[in-house]
Amino acid sequence: MKTWASKYDEEVSLFNYNGPELMAREFAKLNVPKDVKVIDIAAGTGALGKELKALGYTCIDALDGSEGMLEAARKKNIYRNLFQFLLGCDKKSPITYGTYDIAVSCGGIGIGHIPYSAFHDILTMVKQGGLVCWATINPKEEQEKETYNSVITELKDSGKWEAVQDPVRVEEFYKNELALFYVMKKL
Ligand SMILES: C[S@@+](CC[C@H](N)C(=O)[O-])C[C@H]1O[C@@H](n2cnc3c(N)ncnc32)[C@H](O)[C@@H]1O
Repeated sequence: MKTWASKYDEEVSLFNYNGPELMAREFAKLNVPKDVKVIDIAAGTGALGKELKALGYTCIDALDGSEGMLEAARKKNIYRNLFQFLLGCDKKSPITYGTYDIAVSCGGIGIGHIPYSAFHDILTMVKQGGLVCWATINPKEEQEKETYNSVITELKDSGKWEAVQDPVRVEEFYKNELALFYVMKKL
């Protein structure tokens, strides 16, 4: 993982990864105050945090499972606090319940990364009335699609969150791949 971390920025710049810039653009349209407390989930080397900081958001923390990625992010002076934690494992989250106004995640949820079931844990990090926003390439496999949609629906049906807007299409998120930008409100 450390090796990936040291090469990550170089690799994604070669592969036309526009996700962080495009997601930050969609996020800005929500017009939330610039001093909201934000946690960047699967922050990686800080690509989304960098874009949000450039837009004027001042209070951003980072969480990622990889210490190597966080080390690279730390050097960029984007985040106030950085937490190494693997979502989806059985360990206790280092984040106190209801700490943040908003959780964001770019390209970090789904196959090979954070399991969809971790939306439950992510919700606990956010205050009531706060937002969970993410952009990720939609799963292609039927089984994956079903798991993804069933977690989102289950949280809706059990009154844990509601959609603030329909998912927004983000074209060319990564290479020519389309992603969807979701905004859910914790109830
Ligand atoms: C594709 S990178 C995205 C990083 C960053 N958000 C960006 O847009 O450049 C995915 C990140 O998810 C992190 N990750 C994968 N599984 C994770 C998990 N279960 N818990 C926390 N972080 C995880 C990886 O360490 C990696 O930094």
